[in-house]
Amino acid sequence: MILRLEDAMSVGRGHEEIPSLLSSLKQYVNFHFGTEERLMRSFGYPLAESHAIQHRLMTEALGRAELRHSSGDSRMVLEVLDLMTEWRDHHIPSWDAPMGAFLNETGVA
Ligand SMILES: [Fe+2]
Repeated sequence: MILRLEDAMSVGRGHEEIPSLLSSLKQYVNFHFGTEERLMRSFGYPLAESHAIQHRLMTEALGRAELRHSSGDSRMVLEVLDLMTEWRDHHIPSWDAPMGAFLNETGVA
């Protein structure tokens, strides 16, 4: 999805790509965050609540981005790109990977 937004931005169509991108992102996070949170709580992952807070912050940031897009604020395109990049570079290695390792150790995944 990052490449999709970067490609659109490179031809000046970032703002137009945002509604479809945000829709895809919301579907992605609803499914993945829900699955992760169910597994973490079911198997007693010690950082479940902190991890869920990270998910909530991302969900709220996507909601704010959607509102700003609706109001015509084109600067939000770069912020969405930053959000996605930060998620890929920080949340996945720092939060999802340790959770995956814990679930592997418990024999879930
Ligand atoms: Fe996560």
